[in-house]
Amino acid sequence: MITNTELEKKGNLFPSKLVSYEQNGDSICFTSENGVQLIITVVRDSMLRFRYATDGIFENDFSYAIDEDQSHGYSVLDLTEDEEFIWITTEQIKCRINRVDMRTAMFDLEDQLILQDELGFHWEESFEFGGNYVKMSKNSMDGENFYGLGDKPTTFNLKGKRLSNWNTDQYAFGKDLPELYKTIPFYIGLHSAKAYGIFFDNTFKTHFDFCHERRHITSFWADGGEMNYYFIYGPKIAEVVTKYTNLTGRPELPPMWALGYHQSKWSYYPEAKVKELAAGFRDNKFPCDALYLDIDYMDGFRCFTWNKDYFPEPKRMVEELEDDGFKTVAIIDPGIKIDEKYEIFADGLEKDYFCKRADGPYMRGKVWPGNCVFPDFTNPEVREWWADHYKTLIAETGIKGVWNDMNEPAVMEVPGKTFPLDVRHDYDGNRCSHRKAHNIYGMQMARATYEGVKKYIFPKRPFTITRASYSGGQRFSSTWTGDNLASWEHLWLANTQIQRLGMSGFSFAGTDIGGFADQPTGELFTRWIQLGVFHPFCRVHSSGDHGEQEPWYFGEEVLDITRKFVELRYQLLPYLYTAFYQYCEDNVPILKPLVYFDQEDVQTHYRADEFIFGNHFLVCPIQEPNVQGRRMYIPRGRWYNFWNDAVIEGGKELWVDAALDSMPIFVKEGAIIPKYPVQQYVDELEIEELSLDVYYKNGKQNSVYYEDDHDGYDYKMGLFNLRSFKLTGKSKEIIVQQHVAGTYESNLKTMKVTFHGLPFEIKSASVNNEDVSLESIGYDKESNTIILQENFTDLRLISE
Ligand code: GLC
Repeated sequence: MITNTELEKKGNLFPSKLVSYEQNGDSICFTSENGVQLIITVVRDSMLRFRYATDGIFENDFSYAIDEDQSHGYSVLDLTEDEEFIWITTEQIKCRINRVDMRTAMFDLEDQLILQDELGFHWEESFEFGGNYVKMSKNSMDGENFYGLGDKPTTFNLKGKRLSNWNTDQYAFGKDLPELYKTIPFYIGLHSAKAYGIFFDNTFKTHFDFCHERRHITSFWADGGEMNYYFIYGPKIAEVVTKYTNLTGRPELPPMWALGYHQSKWSYYPEAKVKELAAGFRDNKFPCDALYLDIDYMDGFRCFTWNKDYFPEPKRMVEELEDDGFKTVAIIDPGIKIDEKYEIFADGLEKDYFCKRADGPYMRGKVWPGNCVFPDFTNPEVREWWADHYKTLIAETGIKGVWNDMNEPAVMEVPGKTFPLDVRHDYDGNRCSHRKAHNIYGMQMARATYEGVKKYIFPKRPFTITRASYSGGQRFSSTWTGDNLASWEHLWLANTQIQRLGMSGFSFAGTDIGGFADQPTGELFTRWIQLGVFHPFCRVHSSGDHGEQEPWYFGEEVLDITRKFVELRYQLLPYLYTAFYQYCEDNVPILKPLVYFDQEDVQTHYRADEFIFGNHFLVCPIQEPNVQGRRMYIPRGRWYNFWNDAVIEGGKELWVDAALDSMPIFVKEGAIIPKYPVQQYVDELEIEELSLDVYYKNGKQNSVYYEDDHDGYDYKMGLFNLRSFKLTGKSKEIIVQQHVAGTYESNLKTMKVTFHGLPFEIKSASVNNEDVSLESIGYDKESNTIILQENFTDLRLISE
């Protein structure tokens, strides 16, 4: 097994002294005496790319991760040299290249060392596979902490961990497993209150060691391919994350219904059962937007078919569900049943679209349908073919979303649970083996699915979800964390994983609420719903072999409490949708871990129970049974307890009461939170009045609210509104100004504004700079509310 045994340098080869360098546009190519080449490309003022070739031969420059549409550009590129070093200076960073051994170091413009090579680039020749194991080691700085790496089921701060990336079907996975379903080889380092990121864009099996093997060394390496990584400077974590997300691509805005509550199980069938489920939600007045059909809807698990005994008229059923406010989402797996009478198998065979072993035979493997072959989604023609199959599901049957699963790819009853490494792939014309294509197989399947759903659902927006992915996969799909377990430990993991995914560019993520395997108690289910309503993707899913997991199954009390929290999610939909807009438009993660929120406060560096939801909510799940509250850290600033408006000065840990029907939720002072009335599903009501909850602050605070049609593409042609609110609070006055950018004509007529924590009694008011009577704005003293026209621009409330 390859390890990072740099201590004992046996087998490792290194660049020797620099003999020449040459600039070619935004790239500088350095050559060593022993023929190693390093190309450093200035991608942006704060982003450099490093590529190494051990014998001067670079691979075709192709990446599935990088978003071709991303904005490039930098303003300064200075190349200078002295006796010992060559220097590349941009407007934000300096890179130093050592003449003796080509080791590099990064500095900010104040000459603070941010990151430097320890052994730097080195490699080991792999006689077994050909090519190299490519390795990099860096000195870790004093007090440095590490974050990122996608879905890893371990502590949020990665210091001291060794992890790897090899997409794996991990049923009922355990804490600290090094590999799960996704590969996101991106991490953030933070020291001296400054942050940088490393994106190691290599799809082979990759490894990361964060001061695990050696206390002061961080290293990353791959079982093949190129040492090809991006250095991204912050200095704010927020900047690193948004730049990484921009580099690997942002998704389009999902339809708003996808932000509602979703219910799934393996499996709801036949039709009568699905209808009963739908009725269960409406009868119990429990909001729900989507119902999922797991593999049993198909005919013998053949993709794009229906079991007509269970679902005799799928189109009618889907329509009837839709009339009742439910969208139907159906699962599609990659395995195609070997069955000559099955059209997709026969067609794929004829077109030569299935993956083959090195010596020619098809890659055969067992999945749900029995023996299967697998489309090579790394072939663009195959992706198009696959996309076209969605015509039947989407355009002809009315399915609104597609769920891709088992796309690690998972194979049953074989060691390694996946394809053998010799399987061949097209890799968009860069032919390769499964060693290179494994980690992007799922992403390319999700991409094909996304293209298909998008094409046939038009003019509406697509919704897709995938289990496996690679960096950049966020462009094509939402995701969930796979087959978790109904345990308190997994509730803790759920919290960590979704925050981590958000830091890794993948915000639209959720967990199987309640746990996939085993059965949650009513208490665990309740606590998980409380967390889940604050996750960008909110779905209850379970394996179905251990009893029911619908909210009403656990009795009245659980039903009432979980309903209350799901209703809160529906009330917060305009707030959440705005956070999605900021994610899709500005690459800002929807959940912000505390260290993202305030990296200068060292208290946040190891804490990850608490997180910021959107821009203004501080949330902390209860992760233990039988408790009436918990200690938690309140980050710096002033916060309102959501339940009773008590104001707390942050920067300290404290006990917060949270009996089963509650959880710790706080709102940042100065925030203006847009809210909808409770609906049973998105767009059930035509909403003419938006609630604005205004949390008084002595000082200034900005908030935004984004609105559009909730679906479709008109927003891309400018039909949206971005309402910016500016709050200015003084001891005897509060001013709220609204600026509306956009031309969207919504149904909104009025805004019901509720003031929290006003330190004075309202005596007089002006709206749009004209004095008005309190009656004319519907002032209600008891609830501290007023009603304004939706297009007000300036509101002043005064204590005299
Ligand atoms: C996998 C999925 C799970 C699904 C099951 C059956 O285990 O992770 O969500 O229900 O397959 O399709």
